[in-house]
Amino acid sequence: MNAHESAQYDTLIVQEVAPRDGLQIEPTWVETADKIALIDALSTAGFTRIEAGSFVSPKAVPALRDGEAVFQGIRRHSGVIFVALVPNLKGAERALASGADELNLVMSASQTHNRANMRMSCEASLEAFGDIVALAKRSGVRLNATVATAFGCPFEGSIDEARVFAIVDAYREMGIEGVTLADTTGMANPRQVARMVRRALDRLPPHALTLHFHNTRGLGLANVLAAYEAGARRFDAALGGLGGCPFAPGASGNICTEDLVNMCEQMGIPTGIDLPKLIALSRTLPALLGHDVPGQVAKAGRNCDLHPVPHAVPA
Ligand code: COA
Ligand code: ZN
Repeated sequence: MNAHESAQYDTLIVQEVAPRDGLQIEPTWVETADKIALIDALSTAGFTRIEAGSFVSPKAVPALRDGEAVFQGIRRHSGVIFVALVPNLKGAERALASGADELNLVMSASQTHNRANMRMSCEASLEAFGDIVALAKRSGVRLNATVATAFGCPFEGSIDEARVFAIVDAYREMGIEGVTLADTTGMANPRQVARMVRRALDRLPPHALTLHFHNTRGLGLANVLAAYEAGARRFDAALGGLGGCPFAPGASGNICTEDLVNMCEQMGIPTGIDLPKLIALSRTLPALLGHDVPGQVAKAGRNCDLHPVPHAVPA
């Protein structure tokens, strides 16, 4: 890719979510020190945003029950915003006490998934967000809110787009700056994504909109490209393609960060992320977690990682 080609594209901002979405579904306990080491390594790879953990009920997600120790143990970098996912006021208080830079509030567009995930109705979630927003405004912390199952629900099937945008409007009216549209179980397709991104950008500036895709049905990067071409600029992704919601049947990994960064490099879309560093870090995951991970580029190498020609090949 030459400089002229790459100059015509806007930067794609990647928020790394492996420490939160990636680890929340892992059956093997990851030691606090290992979580901190992973986040510290990610912090030096060029990310400007890392979702470093969640402050949810430890009974709901035992894998992330050490959120306080993780946030307090990580090395801070002036250029990196450390985000915490929170479901309720108690979670917001814990996140603020632990020094999170941004709170990511979550509810589902699907009433059924919200009850499975948050054990309450959408109305109850939204009402609780009012108290969180008031707390956040007093403390000066940044705010983002996610609409989960925005592109489809594993229980209800398709989700009315008007319902998704009514929630987006409610978030904005509450004073929440950032909004994430999440495809919790990989049900989105590129045409649907392009249409919904255009509708979202009628309401929000591009820097305030994040797309969160899972690769459950193999459409993750196709959806990224459709979203980018429709004007979206911020995407969640997880190292190694880890991730999944423990309360959504059939959930599987987020789009894989190194696969996304590799695609962007090949297309001349800048991300500011150090791909060799990311690949090296991704290759440490199987030993940490005790299983293979879905990402492709850490296995295949970059396009420029060439192989010696076998002796048997005729000249
Ligand atoms: N952090 C720590 N503990 C919390 C908590 C939080 N944010 N919110 C609630 N709790 C505790 C309560 O103190 C109570 O503890 P106790 O049993 O020792 O008294 C217990 O959890 C139940 O509290 P309650 O308010 O009745 O919660 P619930 O059982 O109805 O669950 C949620 C509601 C939202 C707390 C829970 O469903 C949850 O954490 N969901 C998040 C799931 C998730 O992370 N999904 C993936 C990311 S989208
Ligand atoms: Zn997710």
